[in-house]
Parts: sequence; structure tokens; C-alpha cells
Amino acid sequence: MCGIIGCVGRGDETLDTLVHGLSKLEYRGYDSAGVAMASGGVDLCKTAGKIEDLRDALSSVSLSGSVGIGHTRWSTHGPPTNANAHPHQDCTGDVAVVHNGIIENYQSLRDELVSAGHTFTSDTDTEVVPHLIEDELADGAAPEAAVRSAISRLEGSYAIATVIAGTEAVFAARHDSPLVLGLTEGATFLASDVPAFRDFTDQVIYLDDGEFARLDADGWAVSTLDGSPVEKEVNVVEWDPEETGKSGYDHYMLKEIHEQPRALRQCLRGRVDEMAGTVDIEDLGDLSPTGVQFVACGTSYHAALYGAQLFREAGIPAQAFLASEYATAVPPIGDALVVGVTQSGETADTLSALREARKRGARTMAVTNVVGSTAARECDHAFYIRAGPEIGVAASKTFSTQLAALNLLMLGMTNEEGAREVIAALRELPGNVQRILDESNAEAVAETYRDADSYFFIGRGYQFPVALEGALKMKEITYKHAEGFASGELKHGPLALVTENTPVFAVVTGDGEQARKTVGNVKEVEARDAPVVAITDGQSDVGRYADHVLELPETHPRAAAVLANTHLQLLSYHTAALLGRNIDKPRNLAKSVTVE
Ligand code: F6R
Repeated sequence: MCGIIGCVGRGDETLDTLVHGLSKLEYRGYDSAGVAMASGGVDLCKTAGKIEDLRDALSSVSLSGSVGIGHTRWSTHGPPTNANAHPHQDCTGDVAVVHNGIIENYQSLRDELVSAGHTFTSDTDTEVVPHLIEDELADGAAPEAAVRSAISRLEGSYAIATVIAGTEAVFAARHDSPLVLGLTEGATFLASDVPAFRDFTDQVIYLDDGEFARLDADGWAVSTLDGSPVEKEVNVVEWDPEETGKSGYDHYMLKEIHEQPRALRQCLRGRVDEMAGTVDIEDLGDLSPTGVQFVACGTSYHAALYGAQLFREAGIPAQAFLASEYATAVPPIGDALVVGVTQSGETADTLSALREARKRGARTMAVTNVVGSTAARECDHAFYIRAGPEIGVAASKTFSTQLAALNLLMLGMTNEEGAREVIAALRELPGNVQRILDESNAEAVAETYRDADSYFFIGRGYQFPVALEGALKMKEITYKHAEGFASGELKHGPLALVTENTPVFAVVTGDGEQARKTVGNVKEVEARDAPVVAITDGQSDVGRYADHVLELPETHPRAAAVLANTHLQLLSYHTAALLGRNIDKPRNLAKSVTVE
């Protein structure tokens, strides 16, 4: 949800550093982009479109300065036009500001500033900030004080960075939107996320809400917004910058789908003892909750549905809630644990649900991929899925590792009978995913159904969240209509939509009662001429009713969910590729949704 960057100390490389950083942040938004650099004055270039369009625009202007800021936007206020692109300036052109978040009181601030004679050139909420700074400077405030005072008037969420003519510094502040500093000898960076400067350093400082940073030739200083110095811990980022490249794949998403075996191994490493049949998550302390509530959005919500089922099977009451609906949910009972499943750790809906849970007296946990993310820092516990950086906007390897991590969490917190069997299946999972990546015929199936009107996905039990996820992935990256259903629900309405042009993808594993019932549902759609694709381990007779089969090895149903999902990821990916879609940056979406 918008990416911001700033840097000081890169000399002649400043502009290239900013643009390079923006290209690494483009997954956060790609409606428009811009940069501003300051020395005696402020030079600025911005445009609607992607970073490539910004590069084109920069080829015909000359920007100078040794400190700079940049922005890549996902629109919230105003359409993605040149005028609405960041950075935004004041009336004099001496102040430039980039912002990620939403300023909730912008309308009253804007009215006040317009009455005082300021001229606005955009529809954005952000533009109030440079005008507020302008007023403070006009009243005689020093640049840093002017920025602090202006920011103290804002309500809502923000990560803000600003440069001011004549000041060789970048000032920044955060409230409810991420901001991280990168440190090297001689140069300092700030950004919404580490990949923006990971090529230069692995030393980072995560800013907390209410903190203010000054970056200048002397280095960096962090304080509260009203000026009290804050001691910050320097963290070392463990992943390699190479991990954020495409490594020869056409798309990040395809690379990340193929990285799943490695990601799963990383997730399991050091946490399972196959001989003893135990899982070690001792670093989380003694959890033993009386119940678990999951809160999450989108793909992570599908993982949460799966997680809730795991805990219920182990005898612990558990429910999954859409984070944005959590405020109306029943309060956690007794010594409950509220678990936010969030890849980024920055999703506003999920953070807000976790804060609500704390208010209600619950202990909270983040199941997340991002060390130092807001969820990880705000929750009582953080459990890392260790998927490595995911750049493609559509989640892939983070979903698989969320499922694996939730198994570990459940096994580490309970004495579930049958743990040994699950652990063995988890151990085999990376190899089995690799087999599917090597052998899946999902591309041929995608070719067969590329012109379908609509795609339906069905499954029961652990395969129900997989059906939901299969449909979400299909919608996101192909822009085609797709729906996921609990198999039993089809006959309660959606069956009316089934025709010979609506392929139904049925995930059927094992030969138990759930499989038998889903096979019955498959017969219902087959009788109405719908093409059927079975994703199955062949234990049931679903193959008899299917036009195509995507094969799974026999394994535990919990592990089968990850394997079935791998086929469905490939199906969506290849359908989108055949349709020529922008797979890594689907329209209207962003990787990290930091607004509610
Ligand atoms: C879909 C997708 C989104 C995210 C959702 C939550 O491919 O990526 O649905 O799952 O926005 O994001 P996180 O997990 O970062 O909280």
C-alpha cells in the first residue's frame, strides 16, 4: 500500500538509489511514482504509471541534490494521475513530502489551509502536509521543528518522509504504517520495507509508532515526535538480496511457487523431532490456551480457516474471523489466544483486530513472515513462517508455509494423538511439492479452460480453504470470475450457475466419508455437463467422473492441502500467462494493504 524511500549520503548515486529502491517496492503499489531531491532547492519528477514510466520521465529532466525521497503509489484519495503522484509540494516548492497511509482529518486541515490562502494541486490527503510545514517555516520554525509540528496535527495512519530546500537531511515519522532505517558507513536509508535498500546493507532499525527520524551527513537520530531521544536496537536482516531477484523465471510468482520446497524446509528446520514425534516451539513459552481465535484477511484468512480446523481437531475450541469483521465477533473467552495470520505483518485490518483483541484482554500472537513487522512487534508472541521475501502480489509460498507453520504451532501447543504421522507428512512435504512442480499437468488444463466463463472450486474439511484459495488466486491474477465452495454447498444455490462452460475443480483426498460425499457433489455437476477437474490422490473413484486429473501422492490430508494448492497455483499462473495478464502486479491490488 504505497512504498516510500529516502536516502542520505549516496552523493551522485542518490537518484539511482532512489529509483532502484522504488523498483524493489513496486509490489506495494504501482499507480504512479515520483522522486524529489534537495540541495539549495527541491527538484522533483513524478508521473502516473509504473517505475518504468518514472525512468522515462527522468530521462528528460535533470535532478540534483544529495538527499532524496521517493514514492510508489496505490491510490486511496484521488485517481492515479500525474497530479496525484507523490511527492507533494507546498506553495513555494521548497518542501516535498511522500506519504503512505491515510490522513483522516485531511479535509478539515485542507479547508483551514485553503482559507489561509494555500493553493492545492492534487486530490490527495497527503498534500496538506507540505502546506502545514510551509506555514511552520513561514512562522520562523527551523526545518526539523516545522516537520514535527506539522506531523503532530495529523490524525490517521502515516509513514512520512520529507525534504526541505537548503537542508541536507531527510525527516521521517510513522504512525500505523511501516518505516525501517537501513544503516551503512556513510549512507543512511529509510523505506517502507527492507528490500528497498537490502542491496546496500543488512543493518536495520524498525521505527515504532510515534517515532521521528532525522537522517543527515552525521548519520541518524530517532526521537519521539515531541523530541525525546529514543534508543533503538540495530537488527541484522538474515536473507540475501539475491532472494528478491527473479532468478531467470518470467515472473516473481512463478519463482515463488518454485521456491516452496525450500521455504517449507526453512519453516520446519529445527522445529520438528521426527524420532520423538514432537515439535519444539519452546521459544514461544507455555501457551496452553483455553481457545484460539484467528484473525486474517484474504489468502491468510484461508490459512486461518485451516488453522482453526487443526486446533478443533486437537480438542481446542478455535474459530477463524475475517479481521475486518472481528470487531463484531464474540469476545475471546477465558485464557484465549488471538492469532493474527499475516504474511506482511502490516495489514491494517489484521493489526486493528489484534489491537481489539488486546483491549478485550486476550494474549496475541502474530504468525508472520516479516521479522520486525508491526504485528510481530505488537503481539505478545511472534511465530515466523520463514518463507523468505515474497514479491509477487499474489501470495503463493507464504500460504504453503503458513499452513505448515500452523501445523507446527498446533502440535507444539497440544498433545495431539497422531502427531507422529503429521510430522512424517510434513517432513515429506517439500519433496512432494517438488514432485508436483516437476510433474503437474496444470498448464495443459489451463490451456483447455482458458476461455471458460467462470471457474468453481470445491472441497471439504482441510480442502475447503484450498478451494477458497484456488478461486482467489484465479480471480486475482486472471481477472476471471471464480468461486470456491464447501462441496456440500453447491446444491444450495450455486449449482444454478453450473453449465458446460464452468469447469469445476474438485479437491478430493483419501477414501473416507468426506471424499465419498464430495464425489457425490462431483456427480451432481457432471450430470449438468460441467467439465470436472479432480485434484486427487486416486484413493476415491472421483477420477471416473473427471475430464482431467491433477494427481497427488497419498499423504496426510493436512499435507495434501498444500499439494493440491500447488497444482491450483500453477493452474491460475498458467491461465493468467495465457491471457497475457500482469501476473506480478494485478490491477487494483497491492501486496501490503495498510488501510482499513
Ligand atoms: C492474495 C493476497 C491477499 C493477502 C491479504 C492479507 O494473494 O496476498 O489476499 O493474503 O491482503 O495479507 P497479509 O497476509 O500480509 O496480512
